[in-house]
Amino acid sequence: DDRRLVDRYGRVATDLRVSLTDRCNLRCTYCMPAEGLDWLPGDELLTDAELTRLLRVAVTELGVTDIRFTGGEPTLRKGVEGIIAAAAALDPRPSLSMTTNAIGLARRAPALRAAGLDRVNVSLDTLRPDRYAAMTRRDRLDDVLAGLAAAHAAGLAPVKVNAVLLRGVNDDEAADLLRFCLEHGYRLRFIEQMPLDPQHGWDRSEMVTAAEILELLRARFDLTPSPRPRGAAPAERWLVDGGPGDVGVIASVTRPFCAACDRTRLTADGSLRSCLFSRTETDLRGPLRAGASDAELADLWRAAMWGKLAGHGIDGGGFTQPDRPMSAIGG
Ligand code: GTP
Ligand code: 5AD
Ligand code: SF4
Repeated sequence: DDRRLVDRYGRVATDLRVSLTDRCNLRCTYCMPAEGLDWLPGDELLTDAELTRLLRVAVTELGVTDIRFTGGEPTLRKGVEGIIAAAAALDPRPSLSMTTNAIGLARRAPALRAAGLDRVNVSLDTLRPDRYAAMTRRDRLDDVLAGLAAAHAAGLAPVKVNAVLLRGVNDDEAADLLRFCLEHGYRLRFIEQMPLDPQHGWDRSEMVTAAEILELLRARFDLTPSPRPRGAAPAERWLVDGGPGDVGVIASVTRPFCAACDRTRLTADGSLRSCLFSRTETDLRGPLRAGASDAELADLWRAAMWGKLAGHGIDGGGFTQPDRPMSAIGG
């Protein structure tokens, strides 16, 4: 009898993505309207104690080995260092990573590292200050670049950079972004835009596809498939000009990787999602506050994962976007 988070297709979820807050200090146009969203009310958020208890259940009862903190912007969560330290104290110690926009890392990278964070993935779609300000509606590119450098210096390695290309907006920057990341020792991945925006503005024909991204890069670089095994990673990787530098493409839409998925997700208000695109969730906060035992919480989690669908089917037809937007799931 497997105590782990297995689903009916034989996949095992060992990678937990935890959204620490749905708030963000940027307003990326493809993610949020300028005025922001209706943030989760404070009393619906898991407290630090509730959250760290669920992390313990995940690691010690369910075999989760990797935890990624996401948002919104996870560094906006008060006491994030304490949450990381509690996770780092679990036995066996999980790997700890964070997906962040890097604003604030210039100041906080050393403390995050000291608390036990192993590495960061940083969202950066453009290297031009005016364009950054237009795409995120905040003039913060300098802070992001300083945050990246601080993360690198603090040993939050490897530092990965996530870039979403939007047609006619920043798709002329693919090669520049790659050159910048190779020069600084950051590992770049381009992401196909997914239908997860609250505005429901995603348009399949507007999406810059993996094939187009590779074509843009091949005009400037020689790309060969990376010999490193991919495992359950979303990114397919290519060596650049023979290596050792490489570039990844996360082709969620045109080359879905659901068959190898090893993920489970927890929202900031304590709901489980078996998939980024789930249309149903399992509430853990209610049972937790009603006095459920660790074993009962673990059983709810196992049952949630047993209901995981084979794949999202975005490119297949009949796809319906989840109610929660990207920023409240954590990607
Ligand atoms: P590592 O490869 O472990 O560094 O992390 P990651 O790439 O899984 O995490 P990150 O938060 O940096 O996500 C990068 C992009 O991949 C984001 O756009 C995520 O939404 C997307 N992504 C992460 N997990 C999944 C998944 O399970 N399914 C899909 N379709 N996309 C995912
Ligand atoms: N499709 C793909 N990636 C997205 N991100 C935000 N919204 C979307 C979307 N609709 C990216 C962010 C960040 C990462 C966590 O997900 O830019 O880099
Ligand atoms: Fe914030 Fe990330 Fe959404 Fe940009 S994509 S607004 S950084 S949550």
